[in-house]
Amino acid sequence: MKKKIILLSIIIGFVVFIFIYLNRIDLAPKKEVYETTIDTLNIPNDKFGEKVKYGRDLMLNTAILIGPNGTNGQYLGNKMNCTNCHQNAGTKPFSFNLINSHKEYPQYRGREGKVLSLAERVNNCIMRPHNGKPLPLDSKEMLAFLSYLKWISDQSKNDTFLGHENLKIEFPNRAANPDKGKVLYAKHCISCHSENGEGLMKPDSTTYVYPPLWGKYGYQPGSSMHRIIKQAQWIKANMPYNIAKWNKPVLTDEEALDIAAFVNNDEIHERPNPITFDYPYPQEKAIDYDKGPFADTFTEAQHKYGPYEPIINYWKSNGMKPIY
Ligand code: HEC
Ligand code: HEC
Repeated sequence: MKKKIILLSIIIGFVVFIFIYLNRIDLAPKKEVYETTIDTLNIPNDKFGEKVKYGRDLMLNTAILIGPNGTNGQYLGNKMNCTNCHQNAGTKPFSFNLINSHKEYPQYRGREGKVLSLAERVNNCIMRPHNGKPLPLDSKEMLAFLSYLKWISDQSKNDTFLGHENLKIEFPNRAANPDKGKVLYAKHCISCHSENGEGLMKPDSTTYVYPPLWGKYGYQPGSSMHRIIKQAQWIKANMPYNIAKWNKPVLTDEEALDIAAFVNNDEIHERPNPITFDYPYPQEKAIDYDKGPFADTFTEAQHKYGPYEPIINYWKSNGMKPIY
């Protein structure tokens, strides 16, 4: 009798083990993953792979291929590359990472007040940060961008990958200060992005060694990079270049906000195309967007520079969801 029970337990145990193994049931709590490896050697050698490769090339060499003097078309108004902000062609964590984008579109966007396809979202970046004109939706280039975004999304099987988000920062209970930012800019940024923010062009003038942060070849004020919270989250994780890392930043949260306030101060820094018509519904407007009307009583200056906590609390206590 005893033997039978032992044998039965072993069999049941074995069956349960096989079942768990086959179903890959993950009994451990899900581990948060911040890095993910995308190996370009895995790009297939077929027609789809060709598009993926061209898409990756467009991410890295945007200006050369579709810039103002682009070899394959002239769409951009400046010589920046997608990878200047979406670093490592959109695969670096906390660098406006694009690994999940293909899964997350079509998506409702408060800025336009409607659902946008991924292609329309790509065109947003071509028009605002690149100050350009939209790619035709059926162009070879747009299909290549989409193929690349689909491929990186399929490569990252990990649904707990968190590096596609922006780095969280704490808000001080004062406004971000462009004057303090100017001093910090001189210390941490000026050596590459230069005193007048124009960066450094390659000797052959095709694109930048160090991209511009303002001036008529920088991103438009309608770009998300122009929002102070968003830029601070990005620069804390990524700048100074090659030194800062998302988990080993150089700047504190306050410093990142002060620098972003200096870079994005439109009173001292010129930008192309200052006219934007965004956010048809004020209650869907990002709190650090600097143009009214707002769904609250705070000034444009407070929206732009903070302090942000009172705005966040106002929104929450009025049953609205603050976006930033
Ligand atoms: C000056 C910086 C900058 C440049 C250059 C830039 N982008 Fe963006 N891009 C952004 C920012 C900021 C966002 C918004 C990120 C966020 O909301 O967290 C964004 C968002 C996106 C998104 C949507 C991501 C998502 O999952 O919601 C796509 C797709 C995209 N960019 C593609 C491109 C492509 C393709 C290029 C080159 C043609 C490009 N971007 C160039 C700054 C830039
Ligand atoms: C050692 C040179 C270097 C330093 C120092 C540096 N950057 Fe950069 N920065 C770069 C490079 C190179 C890129 C493009 C990144 C890429 O293509 O991967 C870049 C990109 C950027 C971008 C996005 C692209 C654009 O032009 O809008 C911003 C914003 C930025 N840097 C801000 C800063 C700030 C703020 C500091 C100081 C805290 C700083 N950088 C320090 C080299 C530098």
